[in-house]
Amino acid sequence: MTSRTVGVVGAGTMGNGIAQVFAQAGFDVIMADVSQSALDRGLAAISNSLSRLVKKGTLTDNEAVLIVSRIRGSTRLADLAACELVVEAATENAQIKEKIFRELASVVPASTILASNTSSISLTTIAAWVTSPERVIGMHFMNPVPVMQLVEIIRALQTSDDTHARIHALSLELGKTPVTVKDGAGFVSNRVLMPMINEAAFVLYENLATAEDIDTVMKLGMNHPIGPLALADLIGLDTCLSIMDILHREFRDSKYRACPLLVQLVAAGHLGRKSGKGFYRY
Ligand SMILES: NC(=O)c1ccc[n+]([C@@H]2O[C@H](COP(=O)([O-])OP(=O)(O)OC[C@H]3O[C@@H](n4cnc5c(N)ncnc54)[C@H](O)[C@@H]3O)[C@@H](O)[C@H]2O)c1
Repeated sequence: MTSRTVGVVGAGTMGNGIAQVFAQAGFDVIMADVSQSALDRGLAAISNSLSRLVKKGTLTDNEAVLIVSRIRGSTRLADLAACELVVEAATENAQIKEKIFRELASVVPASTILASNTSSISLTTIAAWVTSPERVIGMHFMNPVPVMQLVEIIRALQTSDDTHARIHALSLELGKTPVTVKDGAGFVSNRVLMPMINEAAFVLYENLATAEDIDTVMKLGMNHPIGPLALADLIGLDTCLSIMDILHREFRDSKYRACPLLVQLVAAGHLGRKSGKGFYRY
């Protein structure tokens, strides 16, 4: 990239992790969010994450200070005007993302790549919101971003070969392993993962086994590092349900019907770890 400045929109769970990995790879980062308090939380999360790396001996104190110094916050998308790449990681809501992409396209040059970290919104739809849609691409990082190896790259129908080549090379530069997929609901990651989680919920719902036993079968029998129900609690049951609903709607196939137990747990506010209760109690 000619400019080494990258914009990240959203300072939440994913945005601050993405900002951190770019800064660790030597890029200057402008992280944008709607409020100073959101930025402060994001910057604090980055400092905590880097402190853990210093404690582990992965980074020196000086390196951590240098990495933090490369990241600045902003509450104005206009401040991203000079970025060669912007990665959007704002709240998973199509209306919010449409507003962001339209505004971004009006402040950055047509050569700036606009990537989205969306888990479920069609990249082809996102690309259609902006001028020069060939510069739009999905860059789906996994949580926690500094730890997880994969970047699922999603090509919109409009994505150019040049945009794809640049994002592929950049993902390698971040130390990640990119895998490119076409744009389809759930991409590959959630298309495969969510029905497995949903099926585990059905097995529990049908009383075939306890949550612990279902997870043990998948951990010890299939070598998964974490069972599907514990993973669902980690992701958030509301997120799992909304992705199942998207798969169901997009493919119009009953095999993606959300398990009634998942629907009930979400209705009860049992969203997993973040609410203290989901398939398990925390
Ligand atoms: N959490 C995960 O495990 C995960 C994994 C992969 C992808 N994603 C995707 O990453 C994106 C972000 O998810 P998250 O978990 O970090 O959410 P989050 O709720 O932790 O953070 C979202 C941030 O976006 C900010 N935001 C909202 N509207 C904005 C706007 N107009 N301009 C700038 N910032 C705005 C919010 O203030 C918040 O700080 C979503 O698209 C989600 O689907 C999440």
